[in-house]
Amino acid sequence: MPIRPDHPLLQRIVDDLADVGWSHQTVFLPDDLTRALAQECHKRAQHGLLAPAAIGRGDSQVIREGVRGDQIAWLEGDESSPAIARYLALMDALRLAFNQSLFMGLEDYESHFAMYPPGAFYATHLDRFKDDDRRMVSLVLYLNEAWLPEHGGALRMHLPDGQTRDVLPAGGSLVCFMSGDLPHEVLPATRERMSLTGWFRRRGENVLENVL
Ligand code: OGA
Ligand code: MN
Repeated sequence: MPIRPDHPLLQRIVDDLADVGWSHQTVFLPDDLTRALAQECHKRAQHGLLAPAAIGRGDSQVIREGVRGDQIAWLEGDESSPAIARYLALMDALRLAFNQSLFMGLEDYESHFAMYPPGAFYATHLDRFKDDDRRMVSLVLYLNEAWLPEHGGALRMHLPDGQTRDVLPAGGSLVCFMSGDLPHEVLPATRERMSLTGWFRRRGENVLENVL
């Protein structure tokens, strides 16, 4: 049965975002789905479909390893994998939960697999582009089995009160935060680090841009 937007787990995430701007769920994805998505990520790596991630958008896209060392593969919407379909259905229920409870007007979702080789990191950044503020909520799902603190690779969030909070990329866990408000970074790890990262977006400011 598909999950409904009023499911208590989804409501907890919505409430966390409304209260403090971020949420961490250590148990989010079912184990079999985490494993199947990890396999999808590995399959892309084996087929050479993971590419160095770029910084910025459009003409200004550059690849700077000093800033971001992960390899990514965007989901294009034409995947035939049942695991990806389950993942997208879950994210859509969460999108509706945000819209129903917080009237956020989230219209779509974009997402990519990311693989960080050992030693790779992503320097402190915000998930919003200067020329495009449609990204509202960032969501990171981790796909790593048996992650231990000594493996490193934490997501470090820089909270508004000046404190930092580190989250381990443990398989099946979810971190979610307001894209424009929360600077964050990925610390280097001693082993390969996989995630499925996405963003709920609202409509652009210019309501005629898709019509004219
Ligand atoms: C990103 C990002 C965090 C993570 O892809 O923008 O910040 O923990 N990822 O993988
Ligand atoms: Mn980010």
